[in-house]
Amino acid sequence: PKKEKICLYFVDRDGDRITVNADVGSSLLDVAIDNDIELEVSLCFKLADGSEHTAMAKVGDNLLDIIIDNDIDVDGFGACEGTLACSTCHLIFKPDQYDQIQEKPTDEELDMLDLAFGLSDTSRLGCQVIVTKEMDGWEIEVPSGVADARG
Ligand code: FES
Repeated sequence: PKKEKICLYFVDRDGDRITVNADVGSSLLDVAIDNDIELEVSLCFKLADGSEHTAMAKVGDNLLDIIIDNDIDVDGFGACEGTLACSTCHLIFKPDQYDQIQEKPTDEELDMLDLAFGLSDTSRLGCQVIVTKEMDGWEIEVPSGVADARG
């Protein structure tokens, strides 16, 4: 049977309308993804001083960029600008969320993580973790110190 379609529009941050044809019965999230509409999720970064910073994160960006773009001020964070040379972008995830991160760490990331300050079983380097739609509402811990592997 032919699927019933409706026309609907999304409004982006600038107020522009993006009109799409959607199959009746499909989720809005799937409609957005199928139509290449940029999605954002909300992330909460918990700092060692107890402060929490909520940031809107574009799906497809890496977590280092999200922290920098949202002016979340962590001394020394992201020192090598995402070139996998410093380990200062160390982040700690909740165990169930750690398992949901789509890209698993490469050997290079694991080697660099070994040098990170306060390493845990659910640590990753922020510059190597890409935001996905599953991450909406995640709380991510920023460790209390950074260790720059470059010495
Ligand atoms: Fe240096 Fe991620 S920013 S390893």
